[in-house]
Amino acid sequence: MLAPWRSLLSSAIHRNRSKPHSRYFQLATVTPEGYPANRTVVFRGFLDDEQNRLKTITDSRSTKIQDIEYQSLAEVCWYFTKTREQFRITGSLQLVTVTDADDSLQQARKTTWQNLSDSARSQFAWPNPAQPAADKSAFEIDPPDADTPLDNFCLLLLTPKKIDHLQLRSNPQQRCWYILPSDQTWITQQVNP
Ligand SMILES: Cc1cc2nc3c(=O)[nH]c(=O)nc-3n(C[C@H](O)[C@H](O)[C@H](O)COP(=O)(O)O)c2cc1C
Repeated sequence: MLAPWRSLLSSAIHRNRSKPHSRYFQLATVTPEGYPANRTVVFRGFLDDEQNRLKTITDSRSTKIQDIEYQSLAEVCWYFTKTREQFRITGSLQLVTVTDADDSLQQARKTTWQNLSDSARSQFAWPNPAQPAADKSAFEIDPPDADTPLDNFCLLLLTPKKIDHLQLRSNPQQRCWYILPSDQTWITQQVNP
């Protein structure tokens, strides 16, 4: 079932399509030491399933993997500048790595890789992230095979549990929560901004 917030988010993506930065959101995790860790990632669409999972990609060598493996809870913060609305999406992350046994997720990982540009794929063949800077020549590589993902290429899925949607354009501002309790039916609650 399409969650009640899905059409609102899809509409925001559509109405802000003239702004390329609308495809980026901030993804916050928590480090094993308990610090917040936040970074920008690219939205790669929704997984074609019932759980309204958001797709993004990452490198299995990156630091965030330790956070996700320690505990999977995360929050996305996504602001659309043209329509002046923010979505905060709380949920749990799932990494789809080269060893994932689920065929449909493995297929989604492969298709996502195939849809990347050569330059985006090349980043997965760069030297290890967060290590002392390598020689420039280590980054001058031929693009990897466009069909088969490199082993360190991961699909990163967020399964939403709560959405906090804030719209600045009306007066007063509108704020609405969409919450998925354990019975799996979304609850909608307007709240004060
Ligand atoms: C506009 C923009 C888009 C980015 N997209 C991604 C992305 O889709 N996936 C990703 O892992 N990192 C992406 N990055 C890099 C991350 O913000 C971050 O620097 C990197 O993933 C290392 O994060 P970590 O140390 O928390 O693992 C992007 C950065 C920017 C500025």
